[in-house]
Amino acid sequence: MKLEQAVIDEIKNLCRYTRFSGTANYIQHGTTSVYRHSIAVACVSLRIAEKLHLRVDKRTLIRGALLHDYFLYDWHSNPSVSWHGYRHPRIALENAEKDVFLNKKEKNMILRHMFPLTPVPPVHKEGWIICLADKLCSVRETVLRKKRHRGYKKIAKKKAVETG
Ligand SMILES: [Fe+2]
Ligand SMILES: [Fe+2]
Repeated sequence: MKLEQAVIDEIKNLCRYTRFSGTANYIQHGTTSVYRHSIAVACVSLRIAEKLHLRVDKRTLIRGALLHDYFLYDWHSNPSVSWHGYRHPRIALENAEKDVFLNKKEKNMILRHMFPLTPVPPVHKEGWIICLADKLCSVRETVLRKKRHRGYKKIAKKKAVETG
């Protein structure tokens, strides 16, 4: 994935002043960490805005995307957080607000990114963009994982046949 300089700058910024680098310790989908997922969502969001010729607040779009899943726990094995899908946007927002100043759009993007699972839609176009980018990235990460898994199974089968 080719990263735009603006995305690199924000990642560096967040890694310096927040717990963003810690998201690399948590898996989001398949083998993809929350860190990689969030960066992918930022890149895809920029691409969507560009393809649709949308005038967006670029820095806000990138920061909202990078922090949209800033929940900072392993949702696969954390029994203390039930209903993760519904609750994590608010947890992400609360964590982010502890670490950085967020503008109104960034707050709304983080809080509403799970629409339509959570029923209230985002207010701004930046929010709609990350909503879509998040779903595209999630599907890609989940499908890739299945493909990779099938690939490993094929290799293991082949090896088993070869070694008898
Ligand atoms: Fe999320
Ligand atoms: Fe996400």
